[in-house]
Amino acid sequence: MKHPFAHYRSLFPVLESKIHLASCSQGAISKTVSKSIEDYMNSLLSMGVNWNQAIKEVEKAKSSFANLIGAAPDEIAVFSSVSDIFSAIASSLSFEKGKNIVVTTDMDFPTVGHVWLAQEKFGANVRFIPSQQGVIPLEYYERYVTSDTLITSISHIGYHNGFKQDIQAIAEIVHRKGSLLLVDAYQSAGQVPIDVKKMDIDILAVGTRKYILGIPGISFLYIKKELAEKWKPRITGWFGQENHSKFNVHQFTLAAGARRFETGTPSFISAYAAAAALRLLLDIGVENISSYLNPLAQFALDYGQEKGLHVAGPLSADQRGAMTAFYVKNAEQIESILKERNIIVSARNDVIRIAPHFYNTQDEIREAIDELTMVLNTNK
Ligand SMILES: Cc1ncc(COP(=O)(O)O)c(C=O)c1O
Repeated sequence: MKHPFAHYRSLFPVLESKIHLASCSQGAISKTVSKSIEDYMNSLLSMGVNWNQAIKEVEKAKSSFANLIGAAPDEIAVFSSVSDIFSAIASSLSFEKGKNIVVTTDMDFPTVGHVWLAQEKFGANVRFIPSQQGVIPLEYYERYVTSDTLITSISHIGYHNGFKQDIQAIAEIVHRKGSLLLVDAYQSAGQVPIDVKKMDIDILAVGTRKYILGIPGISFLYIKKELAEKWKPRITGWFGQENHSKFNVHQFTLAAGARRFETGTPSFISAYAAAAALRLLLDIGVENISSYLNPLAQFALDYGQEKGLHVAGPLSADQRGAMTAFYVKNAEQIESILKERNIIVSARNDVIRIAPHFYNTQDEIREAIDELTMVLNTNK
């Protein structure tokens, strides 16, 4: 299989010595991201204070992210983690009788369930849609989302088995029932095209250390401008103010758009990393990345099964993202053994996740699966 992005491989030093297939956990770091982090440190070392440059870099990161998902820059706010975004949104809602149901799924990342369950104290009633053989059938949304649903909170791609949901079709159902739609796109952004307008998403949350190829410490909230401006966040701070450089302790005037959800100084160093990482992704184009990764994922699914492995989730790459999950016993131990053999994969409970990005090759996936089956056969 031809590798259209082979010339980018030299940007990722880790690929010289390791097979890196853990983009669902931490993507490989490029020299451009590393250089951007150094730029941040050097500006502090040489200038002493680099506030204005750092704020500009945060704005650059926000507009690149807006570009990646088809939003406007003033529909983006920065936080430190996806969990923080969920808490900010949840605590902005009021759960009134007759409109207090939160619908989520048992395939969502645990933090999602935790944040919503914490709102039960404030009147929320959380309903979990159960998955069926590793997928959530579309008709379940017809059944579980009702007129008393305030918000439906789901993931685009599941962190455990890689199942990809049809967001546009879900949005049609959810909105018809009068519910908001919040999408956790941490496992999809950077590898699968996202157009928040076309997909009709109200709110979206993404961190930067997975397929975005940045580091932890910064995450992006998208919220539709007209929706944001109806809300008064209770988790707040000076960055959420219309004019934060006024330093008026008595005045509380929320900023227009998504920025009203921001609190305090963001992690500048992570913003530098994110801005550089997003530049690279936009350069290559997520459509191109996705077209490359789809057959690669199908290869992993087919080759793994040929070697006797059991796939978690759908068997067709069209229903998944790039990540393939294989059921194993002692996943963490297997992850460590493979790491010693210079193969970086990611364990979650009962699966080993193999998550390529555009810099990986089919040969690397074959080698990782060969090694995985060898380890499993010797540890039976
Ligand atoms: C889909 C998904 N959502 C949320 C999270 C948690 O993100 P954070 O640690 O930034 O809160 C993860 C982390 O692995 C994830 O995979």
